[in-house]
Amino acid sequence: MVGPASPVAFEALRADALGCVRCPLSAGRTQVVFGVGDPHAALMFVGEGPGREEDLAGEPFVGRSGKLLDRLMQEELSMDRSRCYIANVVKCRPPENRDPLPDEIAACRPYLESQIELIDPRVVVTLGNFAARLLLETTDGIRSLRGRAYRFRGGHLVPTYHPAFALRSGGQVVAEMRADLIRAKRLLAAGPGAGPAALERGPR
Ligand code: URA
Repeated sequence: MVGPASPVAFEALRADALGCVRCPLSAGRTQVVFGVGDPHAALMFVGEGPGREEDLAGEPFVGRSGKLLDRLMQEELSMDRSRCYIANVVKCRPPENRDPLPDEIAACRPYLESQIELIDPRVVVTLGNFAARLLLETTDGIRSLRGRAYRFRGGHLVPTYHPAFALRSGGQVVAEMRADLIRAKRLLAAGPGAGPAALERGPR
């Protein structure tokens, strides 16, 4: 049986993704950016898609957005990226960093879904509109979605802004991201059975 975080299943999934040609983004990539971190992690971040630096490095969030994410993770969760798992909605870089197209998201979706199934995180933090909309199956925007947690699989999902948006927007958005990460931290501490209070809007 293939259980959660089975190393064999996870490596098979990675190997499959590294050879993927399911959508046209594959033609323009330098590397598939599958994900990074601990496949047994209780906390998983999901971003949008690799940019230029990630495409070259083969690792998510290594550019300026990633530096902000690393800093907030350290300051609010006291952890570095080796203790969580970080993946994206699409695993190959969209040209000129444009938004991923619906067909590209649909083609890549099984990889993200399998990652979530195998890692089986207790808390998923989505970064920006694309990950939140995909995983919550909504068309609502991040401004209205964030500020609370949602039940997700057996655990919780906490939507927050994309760090690139926070870099462009400055203090207030960064402060809201911090509040979202504190929400995620409380949920991690509360364990899988966290009740309705965990879903309420806390400090914004
Ligand atoms: N933005 C994302 O959404 N993901 C990355 O990996 C890098 C930048």
